[in-house]
Amino acid sequence: MSNSFYITTPLYYVNDRPHIGSAYTTLIADIIAMYHRMKDDDVFFLTGTDEHGQKVQQAAEKNGISPQEHCDIYAERFRELWSYFNLSNDDFIRTTEDRHVKVVQHVLQDLFDKGEIYKDKHEGWYSVADELFITEKDYEEGKYRDVRRISETNYYFKMSAYQERLINYIHDNPKFIQPENRKNEILGFLKQPLKDLCISRPKERLSWGIELPFDKDYVTYVWFDALLNYVTAPGYLQDDDRFQKIWPAVHLIGKDILTTHCVYWPTMLMATGIPLPKTVFAHGWWTSEGQKMSKSLGNFIDLETIQMHCDNVGKDVYRYYMAKEGPLFSDSDFSKERFYQTYNTDLANDFGNLVNRIFKLIFKYFDGYIPKPSSFEEKDQAMIKASKVCYGGVIVSLDSLNLNGIASSIMGYVSFINRYLEKTEPWKLAKTDLEATKTVLYSALASLRFAASLLYPLLPEKMTEFFSMLNNGDSPGTLMEWDGLKPGTELGEMKALFPRFDMQLLENM
Ligand code: MSP
Repeated sequence: MSNSFYITTPLYYVNDRPHIGSAYTTLIADIIAMYHRMKDDDVFFLTGTDEHGQKVQQAAEKNGISPQEHCDIYAERFRELWSYFNLSNDDFIRTTEDRHVKVVQHVLQDLFDKGEIYKDKHEGWYSVADELFITEKDYEEGKYRDVRRISETNYYFKMSAYQERLINYIHDNPKFIQPENRKNEILGFLKQPLKDLCISRPKERLSWGIELPFDKDYVTYVWFDALLNYVTAPGYLQDDDRFQKIWPAVHLIGKDILTTHCVYWPTMLMATGIPLPKTVFAHGWWTSEGQKMSKSLGNFIDLETIQMHCDNVGKDVYRYYMAKEGPLFSDSDFSKERFYQTYNTDLANDFGNLVNRIFKLIFKYFDGYIPKPSSFEEKDQAMIKASKVCYGGVIVSLDSLNLNGIASSIMGYVSFINRYLEKTEPWKLAKTDLEATKTVLYSALASLRFAASLLYPLLPEKMTEFFSMLNNGDSPGTLMEWDGLKPGTELGEMKALFPRFDMQLLENM
């Protein structure tokens, strides 16, 4: 029976246009999903949009349209971006959909009936910009914008009751919060007494939200609503068998939404009686050209900028770069220079030249037909061994969601193939021993094919082109055996997969 693997991205707010941050989490989730499909796992990959809340209401008012119309326009922008990248998501959820509203209201009613939600009056500092009550300390430190003193009656979720259980859970499940530094951040946060969570907003202040089923004067706090999407989509309360098969999830998020995912969400699940997610992995942030991204600094990497880079070298390369250099464990800087340099070094040079070299030699000495090897000698066996080490490295990295590690393992193997050619020198060997040359070129091509099969989730379009050039009848996206070439097959026409990028062009970019 295949293993089930459920991966999610955050739901993106519909008050902002997609940018490198949203593209990053979604592309790396796609890559992870594709590796799991390659392993024959039953994958469910979810992304979507977070559509309620004050900012959406205000943005719609400003544009003179209804909040729903505003959401429809913005949700479409995200859908367009994902279809531009041929994303393999299995579902796209919007929090304004009926299926979701029903789940949220059901969970709220259930928690209210169980006494997990109570009504109370509270006076405190409220950040209008962030839509939450903040502590006295946060207020004094000036951490939040647009802060007002508010006295209000609201509904509260008894989050504080779960503090001990949550701390124990984190200690007992080392893979729950990753990476380690984020886990420590949450354990640090949990040293302070946990407060109850205000989960309502009075309609007179905010009407664009899901109405509380037990009090029509209130709507649900946007996070309490949005987090539940992760159980709505796989069928919670709608298709129990399906839900049991798919849940629990691996949540990929950015470091800024760690507390909501590692404190609010697990305690909500505990109260509801749903098992906790397998993992919450919080990555760092992209900065741009050495600074925090900002529209006013002119370094904001929006959709148009992303597409400009993709037009230059291919959409795949953007994916590859996100995975290889992305801010998984700490922040990373996106610089054009480094992006195109990495392209030239890894793809044009290491991988691209290797393809050229091997194909040219096979055309020259064997008329473009895949040669039949005789017995593999030690040096050829070493290539097989190295392919296994590479695959092992990919799987270990995949288990810890370490995409930087996956890319490095495969590129390490690509360098190994280049060194194999330098050692065996088939261009010289062909003059004295054509039989031995067959084995060398077969081994080199078999190794290249194996590397390409593992590179597929990182570079799906380019590797599909590669496999059609190879003409060996392989299905890209499946895991391939090293020894799977069919001798006697005629190679397809050679194309430059990764033409060198002229770094001079950067000056005008
Ligand atoms: N709507 C909430 C999430 C709800 S999940 C139930 C939200 N949306 S967001 O659109 O503001 O942010 C989505 C994600 O984008 C977050 O994970 C955030 O960390 C990420 N990024 C925003 N800017 C980023 C960078 N500059 N770099 C990397 N990721 C960043 O929060």
